[in-house]
Amino acid sequence: MSAKNTVVVDLKFERREVDAALVDAFAGRTVLRASDPDVDLSEARYAVIWKPEPDLFQRAPKLEVLFSGGAGVDHILAMPGLPDIPVVRFVDESLTTRMSEWVVLQALSHLRQVPAYLKQQRQRQWRELSQPEAKELTVGVMGLGVLGLDSVRKLKVMGFDVVGWSRSRKTIEGIETFDSGGLDAFLGRTDILVGLLPLTPDTRGIFDASLFSRLRQGGALGKPVFINAGRGGSQVEADLVAALENGILGGALLDVFEKEPLPADSPLWAMENVIVTPHAASASDVRALFRNAEAQMDRYEAGEPLQHLVDRKTGY
Ligand SMILES: NC(=O)c1ccc[n+]([C@@H]2O[C@H](COP(=O)([O-])OP(=O)(O)OC[C@H]3O[C@@H](n4cnc5c(N)ncnc54)[C@H](OP(=O)(O)O)[C@@H]3O)[C@@H](O)[C@H]2O)c1
Repeated sequence: MSAKNTVVVDLKFERREVDAALVDAFAGRTVLRASDPDVDLSEARYAVIWKPEPDLFQRAPKLEVLFSGGAGVDHILAMPGLPDIPVVRFVDESLTTRMSEWVVLQALSHLRQVPAYLKQQRQRQWRELSQPEAKELTVGVMGLGVLGLDSVRKLKVMGFDVVGWSRSRKTIEGIETFDSGGLDAFLGRTDILVGLLPLTPDTRGIFDASLFSRLRQGGALGKPVFINAGRGGSQVEADLVAALENGILGGALLDVFEKEPLPADSPLWAMENVIVTPHAASASDVRALFRNAEAQMDRYEAGEPLQHLVDRKTGY
């Protein structure tokens, strides 16, 4: 077996899941685990990584392609000593579908007042609350990439009025779209804001007091709601807490945080109008990840262009 075909796997995922997925993966290639400090990675050609060992690039100086274990690559691009080689994002139907399920669930849960009913239940209170229709609410999705595009379509199927915002303007049937310059108009229409943006220098801290204050007030839910499953670095949590406390926002559903795990002393844990999930909106399916990486390695070796390449200039 040629050392040229060696794959390093350095994924901080559930060990058992990775072991099980490796049983059928990368046939004809040598697979090395970077978690073993004594393994010689010096001839490795590819690396499949998620939060890898900090010395990976020193130990594997001949890498030609990096495969991200997730759709987001901010932590990879921030790694010291990152070699100037292609970085491939993980794009797969399983990941996309799971994210859309989470987004639609959160939007529906606010439409149907689930947090308010849970509160009433704890107080043994039998009281029917107002019941707007989905079409009376506008869900605004920031980020119309692989995940955002699927989410807007599925939100639309559920009957919501849907608008979308991205750097370059998109054409999506039945959905009004805005580009970077149209942010104010987009926010002014939005009752439920969904963040599906990558973390880049341009999107760091974008969800701040100023942005929350520009969302539509007085829509069918009374106050706007913020949902974020992109990256926590895009939200200013002090501003978010203040907006929730002073009634600029009616609620928040958060899967990502400035610091993860969310520190025990974060006020977000205990706020009645906040739902926290532990960066679990859409987990990578490891088998699918390896299948994708393998297919891309085959393309690369056949001289075909790699797909889902990260643009180092834009950071996603
Ligand atoms: N919570 C979880 O479990 C989980 C799971 C997977 C992924 N994620 C996060 O979700 C993010 C999005 O994934 P994806 O696959 O949809 O990414 P993607 O296909 O790269 O799409 C990114 C979208 O964001 C837009 N965008 C980027 N920078 C922007 C800016 N400065 N202003 C306006 N729009 C901007 C892009 O605009 P253009 O279309 O104009 O380029 C694009 O529409 C990932 O980066 C990751 O951080 C979270």
